Amino acid sequence: MTQALDEIKIGGMGASRKRVEDSRFIRGKGNYTDDIHLPGMLHMEILRSPLAHARITKIDASRAWDIPGVHLVLTGDMMATRNLAWMPTLSYDTQAVLATDKVRFQGQEVACVIADDPYIAKDACEAIDVEYEPLPVVVSPQAAAAEDAPVIRDDKENQDGNLIYNWEVGDAEGTDRAFEEADLVSRLQLHYPRSHPSPIECCGSIADFNRSTSKLTVYMTTQAPHIIRAAVALVAELPEHMIRIISPDIGGGFGNKVPIYPGYVCSILASILLERPVKWIEDKTGNLISTGFARDVYLDGELALRRDGKILGMRMRTLADHGAFFADAQPSKFKIGLMHSTFGCYDVPVAHLAARGMYTNKAPGGVAYRCSFRVTEAMFFQERMMHAAANDLGMDQAEFRRINLVRDEQFPHRTPFGFLLDSGQYKACLDLGLKAVGYEDFLRQKEEARKKGRLLGIGISTMSEPLGAGNSREYDILGIKMFDSAELRVHMTGKALLRTGARGQGQGHETTWGQIVAHELGIPADDVTVEEGDTDTAPFGMGTYASRSTPVAGAAIAMVCRKVRAKARKLAAHLLEVSEEDIEWELGRFYVRSAPDRGVTIQECAMAAYSNMPDGLEPGLENNAYYDPPNLTWPFACYIVTVEVDPETGVWDVLNMVAVDDCGVRINPMIVEGQIMGGLTEAYAMSNMQFITFDADGNCIGANYMDYMLPTAWETPGFELHGEIVTPSPHHPIGAKGVGECAAVGGPAAFVNAVMDAIAGTGVRNIDMPLLPDRVWEAITERHDVSGAPPVRSDG
Ligand code: CDP
Repeated sequence: MTQALDEIKIGGMGASRKRVEDSRFIRGKGNYTDDIHLPGMLHMEILRSPLAHARITKIDASRAWDIPGVHLVLTGDMMATRNLAWMPTLSYDTQAVLATDKVRFQGQEVACVIADDPYIAKDACEAIDVEYEPLPVVVSPQAAAAEDAPVIRDDKENQDGNLIYNWEVGDAEGTDRAFEEADLVSRLQLHYPRSHPSPIECCGSIADFNRSTSKLTVYMTTQAPHIIRAAVALVAELPEHMIRIISPDIGGGFGNKVPIYPGYVCSILASILLERPVKWIEDKTGNLISTGFARDVYLDGELALRRDGKILGMRMRTLADHGAFFADAQPSKFKIGLMHSTFGCYDVPVAHLAARGMYTNKAPGGVAYRCSFRVTEAMFFQERMMHAAANDLGMDQAEFRRINLVRDEQFPHRTPFGFLLDSGQYKACLDLGLKAVGYEDFLRQKEEARKKGRLLGIGISTMSEPLGAGNSREYDILGIKMFDSAELRVHMTGKALLRTGARGQGQGHETTWGQIVAHELGIPADDVTVEEGDTDTAPFGMGTYASRSTPVAGAAIAMVCRKVRAKARKLAAHLLEVSEEDIEWELGRFYVRSAPDRGVTIQECAMAAYSNMPDGLEPGLENNAYYDPPNLTWPFACYIVTVEVDPETGVWDVLNMVAVDDCGVRINPMIVEGQIMGGLTEAYAMSNMQFITFDADGNCIGANYMDYMLPTAWETPGFELHGEIVTPSPHHPIGAKGVGECAAVGGPAAFVNAVMDAIAGTGVRNIDMPLLPDRVWEAITERHDVSGAPPVRSDG
């Protein structure tokens, strides 16, 4: 208890310390890419394709070159002379930087203009004459798989269809046997629709090539600056030590700022050619139609069930729409990301997953929007399937989950797909959620209401999410192993500078990283400056996505602190004139075991490191650590939603939402709650309002915020959060698991299950998201499933 109180005093572990970065953010003093102005800077705009699939027969930029203030017009042919018309993607594919032969999606980059200001550049883009010869358009993976489908990627040798991968995992024969033995087979098919991460700040870069030093500095909106540095070095063949990537403040990433976009590459080339800084800031529509989309997967699966509710086996097939380029990042070994983490929290003896990915005439998809490489789709399908299966069995939703959840004594638990779940108390979390929502009472209320024609429903979603890629044995991107790093310098006065290879985008790293230092070294968090995002100063790291910061970079911070503490112990022994073995540690202080009153603080040790070190000991108090996690961390979440559906209109309102999250040890409970609330808000938006689709000509419908709704506090229901259950990760140095994405991953199924429960009497099995009122109303009145996002014609 005393230790916990001492921690709170110095802003250590468990303190709800106020976010230090907010002091600049809420005063408008953040320093985002667009805030940076360099002397002599020029501005770049991109000309995008209006068509989804067309051959380019001519590009004439002469009118654009003639506009006063234009310095450069880049086209695909010019890029090709420098071998830069195409670039490698993070998934071993290639992507057009500027189109040469064809355009393959609406919004694709065709040319760029660099001018004195962005308005001249925009006008000049409109003066570029491009002639297109339209080609047949493919907007669904099913159509892409048809025998006579046009080949979208005819630029690739040996690509005679639109298939990107055909990948499988698990035990097909064993799964077949489980299905033969089943009393009942429950099946569900659904579509997780395309969605967009939509960070408030769009993408952008300022490239600044200095010919006299040969140094290229790029300020950019990237979640993974070191990966970008490696990519620039390899693609542009520039020496790595002459490239400096700086991610200044980032206005939200959500996976959208992981891929490498053509705008970055073009601004770099333009700066090299013009020897002046070149700024590119994407507009909202550009961001919405051309940057990495998420989801767009068709899921089809079955559960083999015993009559008493035990799951005997699981089978799943996925068909993913990746758009024109397979450009999102995922571990090299796993073609569909971590889709095979599905059903991990249930004790399923045998399973098989077959996944296919297709090219279509859409912008690149598959981005892990607030999710760990496709786990959102995996968990959504899992929980929708659990809901359907419980109904097929005629079992209570909670009881069906309780029977199948992995039991406490089964940890570490190996799933049939090979994952090792580290720890958890799944049933306790479910029971806490049920108690908080008043489960039994609500079921009674629901029955009473039904007699009066009112439709109440309850939806449960329980899941465990794999967070914190690597380990390096299994996880790499383009061969670069997934680990992370931290570097700590303790100054003479006991203040400190911490740098990590992660890069926050609003998650509060500057706050929580200081808390880990406070916990490990007793240096008050306020005395620790945290820096991230500059490849010239930060140690190498794989970046921040997939909620990997706390599991990997957070662990590296704890480890570097321990190295520093080990050296401080030597200094303490010297100051106290005893041997190291006689020294004990308590928060912020070393003392003599036999005389606890005789002690020195960590600050006194720091001073001694520069002014009074023993003979033979290197001066200074600093170190670095690279952390290669032995396993992923597996937080658990239980989300329960109650709703009322209006049978006359299909409008549904959330009555209550309870969230129980066990993310291991919470560094900062307030920040964790903020992360969960943000994730639940996004989950709510995905389930009921966000709809971005494509018409038969490949026009992106919903590419503005009038149509694609971002929820505000007005639409968002209240959430009741519970963090009482804490199961530390046994392999993480401070027992923390990731949390940033859990609610966005597990939340959508709870909302959808609740609505499906409310309309259970109709016999409808599935409505695909978003559950817009007209779709729910159609299901109620027509008594059929409402599936997919059918292509609509732009001509009405
Ligand atoms: O990788 P990302 O930062 O997006 O996700 P995360 O590691 O789950 O962390 C999100 C935020 O929650 C960070 O500020 C973490 O330090 C904080 N957090 C925490 O305080 N306790 C945990 N057990 C997990 C995360």
